[in-house]
This record gives sequence, structure tokens and C-alpha cells, in this order.
Amino acid sequence: MLVFKKVSNLQKHLNKVRKSGQKIGFAPTMGALHQGHLSLIKQSKAQNDCTVCSIFVNPTQFDDKKDLKKYPRTTSQDTALLESVETEVLFLPSVEEVYPSNQVVRNDFDFGQLAKVMEGAFREGHFEGMAQVVNRLLEIVQPHNLYMGQKDFQQLTIVRDLLRQTNSSTNLVMCPIIREQDGLAMSSRNVRLSPENRQKAVVLSQTLLKVKERLGQASIAELESFAMTHLKLPDFRPEYFQIVDGVSLQAIENLEDSKLIVACVACWAGDIRLIDNMIFKNNLK
Ligand code: PAJ
Repeated sequence: MLVFKKVSNLQKHLNKVRKSGQKIGFAPTMGALHQGHLSLIKQSKAQNDCTVCSIFVNPTQFDDKKDLKKYPRTTSQDTALLESVETEVLFLPSVEEVYPSNQVVRNDFDFGQLAKVMEGAFREGHFEGMAQVVNRLLEIVQPHNLYMGQKDFQQLTIVRDLLRQTNSSTNLVMCPIIREQDGLAMSSRNVRLSPENRQKAVVLSQTLLKVKERLGQASIAELESFAMTHLKLPDFRPEYFQIVDGVSLQAIENLEDSKLIVACVACWAGDIRLIDNMIFKNNLK
């Protein structure tokens, strides 16, 4: 695996790869890698000749600076994991490489309602910072294919809009959510859960499943309120449970209105914020 810390060196290498007609796949991450991240790499490897993974804990997307400080940083373990799945390239830039002091890094995108609902309502500036870094990384890597997880469904929807706004030729591939055995969606933040809350955290995926089973038997509003009640375990504080149109991310009133329906949830477990989602219906295509 080639490891680059400098934009110029990475680009020199990728230019050669591109010139030789090889396809480049890209999976941006913030490290603390787990099987969820590795599934993106594996899918990219199956569909491209050269897979680039970036590890960069992006300061501009943290609305909570304590969260930025506490974000796990496990570079040597991450490097070994990426080696184990035969990743071709690891990009490990410094903050100065991504945001050079002598260069303005574009941050003027407007995602309208997509960035205002759900996560956007609770994490001010998060998606603007996320889009800023993804756009910058895409300009650097210029991949044919971009791999992102369904785990962060709203993030992925906003990146799709970013690609549209920038007339990008990069193809976005959505990878399924990888879960622990009990159903908890894998996340770099899970290691920070107390043992008690780790056990209880299965309530997110269980609630999503329970609501999916009850679909059509109660109104959307009733299902959402059932879910919020179900999530209120001791030390657990649900922020939202919303059943939305998977394209516009707007609330739906009945199931027939949308071709793609997704339920999204965010819940605090102690001082750790967990998110999850489930696709309830997909009649797109
Ligand atoms: P991070 O949280 O490290 O996630 C990197 C990628 O891994 C995202 O596309 C995310 O959806 C995916 N991922 C995380 N957990 C997953 C799981 N359990 N199953 C499948 N995929 C999973 O998301 C970010 O970093 C950042 O916002 C980033 C896009 C890198 C921009 O800084």
C-alpha cells in the first residue's frame, strides 16, 4: 500500500494511474476504521483498479469541538486494516494540506432543505463542513467512483447533490450498513459507549425493525411517536425518528407518496450520539 501525506505526491501517482487507463475508486473516512469502512474498500476493489482511502478527521464538520478532540485516532491500526484488504493507496493529509492557508477552499454550496432537516436541525454547520471536505478531496483524487455508506443516509444524499451542483462525472455508490451481531450499526463512536449503554444500543435497530413491521397498520405520525417512546431507555435521549422520502428527505404523509422511503433515527446514549436508518421501500429505477 502506498501512503501519501502530500496532495502533490498523491496527484502525481494518480495521474499515472489515470493515464494508464485504470479506474480509480475512492472511500473518504475519518479513520478509527471498522468493518463498515472496510466494506466500502472491498466494494471499490471489486469495481476499480486502484482504490484510494483517505483518513482525515475534518475539523470543519464538527459542530461540537469536544467531539473533535475526543474523536478516536488509531492510525497504525487503521493502516494495518487497510493493508489487510489490499488497499492500493492511503491518503493521510494534515489540516494544512487540506486547507492550505494560501488558498480558499470552496464552501459556498447551498443544499436547501436537504441540509436543514434531521441531522441538519441538530448539528449546525455539520453538513456544510462535510461537503467542503468531500468536495476538496474529490478535486484532489478525481475518482471514477465514490464509495459512501448508507449508514449516513443524509450525508450521502447531500453528497449526491454536491456532485450534481459541481457537474461532477464521479459516480456515487451507496454501500449497505454493516452491523454488529446484535444489530447495532458499526460506528467509530461505539467504542466510547459504556458497557451498559452498548448493550442497550441495540434499541435503535430494533425500533427500526419494529416500525417496519407495523408499516401500514398505523399512521406515519403514530409510528414515529411509538418509536420515540420505545427509544426512551434510561440514559437514552432520542432526538428524532423520522420516516421520510429518500430523495427529498421531507416528511411523508402516506406510503404511496414516495418511491423511496427511509426511516432515520438519532439518539443519545449517555454522551454518545448514535444514528441509524432503514430503507422501508425502494421502488426507484
Ligand atoms: P466516517 O464516519 O469515518 O465514515 C466514512 C464512510 O464510512 C462513510 O461513507 C460512512 O457512511 C461509512 N460507514 C460508516 N459506518 C458504516 C457502517 N456501519 N456500514 C457501512 N458504511 C459505514 O462519514 C465520514 O467519515 C465523514 O463525514 C467523511 C465523509 C469522511 C467526510 O469527512
